[in-house]
Amino acid sequence: MNVLIIGSGGREHALAWKIAQSPRVRHVFVAPGNAGTAADAENIEIPESDFVGLIRFAKETQVGLTVVGPEAPLAAGIVDAFEKEGLRIFGPNKAAAELEASKVFCKDLLRSADVPTADYHTFRDPARAVRFLQEREDVPMVVKADGLAAGKGVIVCDHREQALEAVNQIAREKVFGDAGNRVIVEERLHGQEASVLAITDGRTIVTLQPAQDHKPAYDGDTGPNTGGMGAYSPTPLVDDKTLHWIEEHVLVPTVHALKRMRRPFRGVLYAGLMITNQGPKVLEYNARFGDPECQPLVMRLKTDLVDVLDAAARGELDQIAPLEWDPRPAVCVVMASEGYPGKYAKGHPIRGLEEAAKLPDVKVFHAGTAVKDNQVVTSGGRVLGVTALGDSIPKAKLAAYTAVKKIRWDGAWCRKDISDKAMR
Ligand code: AMP
Ligand code: GLY
Repeated sequence: MNVLIIGSGGREHALAWKIAQSPRVRHVFVAPGNAGTAADAENIEIPESDFVGLIRFAKETQVGLTVVGPEAPLAAGIVDAFEKEGLRIFGPNKAAAELEASKVFCKDLLRSADVPTADYHTFRDPARAVRFLQEREDVPMVVKADGLAAGKGVIVCDHREQALEAVNQIAREKVFGDAGNRVIVEERLHGQEASVLAITDGRTIVTLQPAQDHKPAYDGDTGPNTGGMGAYSPTPLVDDKTLHWIEEHVLVPTVHALKRMRRPFRGVLYAGLMITNQGPKVLEYNARFGDPECQPLVMRLKTDLVDVLDAAARGELDQIAPLEWDPRPAVCVVMASEGYPGKYAKGHPIRGLEEAAKLPDVKVFHAGTAVKDNQVVTSGGRVLGVTALGDSIPKAKLAAYTAVKKIRWDGAWCRKDISDKAMR
């Protein structure tokens, strides 16, 4: 069959690379894609927001399965639009994607399903949020905008003054627009973060191997927040016993609660967790594969991903055999543009991609890249996800950074400590 992947980042390149290996697949299209997906699949110049154009393309090209990468089209109802036309698509519909699109919806669901999460209060009126903060003792808090804010709507605060300013920014200044119509003030949790992703058809849950992201820009988890500067899998933070506990106490009750609310969730359920002294607690849910977690995960997955995604989209995930994984860990190092996550320039030619590609057990996934005058150039903040397998986490790390060293462009940088958190 033909497969259409929606999106243009490192996650979508990883999905395209993996899906293209399926013996069931004739052709992989990526809309709109990047320079990496142009090499491993075929790019289609249709933006991810143009549902009419995407549906027309899927019909004309006999696409048998569409896979949605990013959250914005899911929240806007791309799955509903495709299904209305009788087209098979992998991802949650609009009602289920609210789990990511509305943090208030997510928190209320977690509370009602008795899933461990930080204590919280939600406010429509900023004055009430301010009063709440002033009446409580001055403890570290987290202030969140309800809606999607490109990963920036969360402000972690040490003191009351910061929390008050965060409420002001989100709910009064509306720096994230309507995403700030409601605001959440929650208890600040402490611990290490881990990502546990599962594929579900709304009934059966297939849990993927645990991964860990690195969200702060600089080494030692310092600096501004980013989309993720690197990831590795598996992470020793979540051993088999903990993973089982998370399935039982987090994933299963969440999927059941959504089903009870008549919003059955089909797609990737991504739990962002804090591993606290009292056990794992949910920080947030995403309704899609993580980026960059997807890159090391697909590098390790041996099972045909198309079988799994297609079965989930059909509601037949119970027919799938247990997933097979490469036991070797994988480490993904994100190479970024100078200035990211702030302002950055685009259009720098990237050198050394061929040399890096020659290394064994290495795959360079593209994120913000484009082809210009027959050359691969930078076109985004996160540019590449250099991913490697190794017999141990330090060996996978060494292999990834050996590949990173082969690649150069003006202003290229990366964190030097991806996966070191596994060693502590
Ligand atoms: P989110 O978009 O909800 O994942 O939040 C982004 C980041 O903010 C998370 O990855 C955490 O590092 C941090 N964060 C969110 N909620 C909390 C919390 N309750 N306590 C501590 N850190 C948090
Ligand atoms: N890696 C974080 C995310 O995909 O949201």
